Amino acid sequence: MGIAEDLQEKWEGILQWSDDNNLPLRGISDSLEEKGIPAMPFFIFLILLLVGGILYFTVFKGAGGGITIFEPAKVDILLVLSDATGQPVPDAQLTIASTNGAQVNLQATTNFDGEAGFKGLKVGTTFEVSASDSGGNALTLDENSFAVLASTKVVELRLSSPVVTQTVTVSVEVKGPTDGETVHVAIIGTDGFPIGGTQTGLNTRFPGLAPNSDYTVRANAEGFVANTLPISVKDRDLPVSITLKTKEKADLGIVKVLVVDAIDLCYVLHADHGMNASTFSARVTVATQSDVYSAITSAVGTLKGPLHGGANEAVMRMLDKIGSMDKIEAWLKNALEKKEKIMGFGHRIYKNGDPRAKILRELSKEVCGKVGKSHLFDMSVHLNEVMEGEKGLHPNVDFYSASLYHCLGIPTDLFTPVFAVSRISGWLAHVMEQKAANKLIRPESLYVGKTDRKWTAVEKRG
Ligand SMILES: CC(C)(COP(=O)(O)OP(=O)(O)OC[C@H]1O[C@@H](n2cnc3c(N)ncnc32)[C@H](O)[C@@H]1OP(=O)(O)O)[C@@H](O)C(=O)NCCC(=O)NCCS
Repeated sequence: MGIAEDLQEKWEGILQWSDDNNLPLRGISDSLEEKGIPAMPFFIFLILLLVGGILYFTVFKGAGGGITIFEPAKVDILLVLSDATGQPVPDAQLTIASTNGAQVNLQATTNFDGEAGFKGLKVGTTFEVSASDSGGNALTLDENSFAVLASTKVVELRLSSPVVTQTVTVSVEVKGPTDGETVHVAIIGTDGFPIGGTQTGLNTRFPGLAPNSDYTVRANAEGFVANTLPISVKDRDLPVSITLKTKEKADLGIVKVLVVDAIDLCYVLHADHGMNASTFSARVTVATQSDVYSAITSAVGTLKGPLHGGANEAVMRMLDKIGSMDKIEAWLKNALEKKEKIMGFGHRIYKNGDPRAKILRELSKEVCGKVGKSHLFDMSVHLNEVMEGEKGLHPNVDFYSASLYHCLGIPTDLFTPVFAVSRISGWLAHVMEQKAANKLIRPESLYVGKTDRKWTAVEKRG
């Protein structure tokens, strides 16, 4: 049977199926035939139109309503380069260019394993490869082209000869605990100097080393003893690993521990106590039913004054101003003669000496000595002695904390903010206590000025 007869038979079948299912296909077919339109091709045309419409709206038309352009598939591939002896060739420049001009001149450098990644290569494209060493000299490949298929992931390339090593690369992996410190690595030559500078990180690479030479790998980090490893490099790149040693009792470690302990102790010694001025102002503020932020702001503002917590900054500036030990006595006597207040001395409550000052004095001695600034402590002691002799006044909490904070590396402008940090929990405790049983704090004051004065109009005042 021919194709036309076959189609005709199928068409008759469709009309019969339409009759059986009460569909008006035969009626439509007859009226089309009456109008001279052949029914079978017309229905085939309708079906094609329907399929075409579905394809257009589901495939070509994107979700956002735009037309989706069909891109050819792309793949990421890894080129692996080894030499004629099978050794990976690191630091080689690989350039690939498509033979049909679709993608041109993509470049990558091979890593230690001779691998170089190329992203988004069009499937169905053939690429030509050219390779050169790190010095720019061309390397000859056994095969210099490859075709990309959807399944291509790795392409292995081989040089037609062994690589003649001009330089070698040493890759260093540092192992062991680092405590989060930055690790510094260097390759030391036989002359004792680092070659190619110091690098940081747990995995570092040192290219450009001379083959057939001896070197020393050195790794260290703050708080660790530097570890060294002698290496003998032949004519190949060399991976080495070195383990950091934990620092035992090095000076740096002791200072670090001392600093942490000293700051802890300072916070305790400067903690809030008694109804001092800043605590009082925090309570006055919150007693008006103002909020805790305003109460702490009041306290900070009060602490800032040099007769209160601002005194430690003033002590430091005074030590700077005096400058040296030999000027202390004359400077102090002159200031006292002028009735100046000497910062860091005297206290409203501790008339026989502030117990906190005794501990801070010892701490200041230790820390200033450790950081090589004993002269600041010595000046403070001399000032203390002269002041006790001249005025019978003892140092308060702010006096030795000045030299101590300075030697702990705290900038002078931050002395009082650091003081505030140790006060804040006490201030808050007072604020909570005040709020729990609040009553407005409203002291009485006694007017001691003139009384019975006459009012004079402004224009008549002199
Ligand atoms: C803390 C301080 C405000 C206490 O003041 P106070 O209780 O009013 O002081 P006193 O009543 O004990 O003062 C007694 C005398 O010593 C004098 N005096 C007190 N501290 C002095 C100081 N640091 N330098 C010079 N003279 C001082 C006063 O002027 C007063 O002298 P006078 O009798 O001749 O007038 C006061 O000692 C001072 O200003 N110290 C310097 C600032 C300071 O270090 N503040 C931090 C405090 S923790």
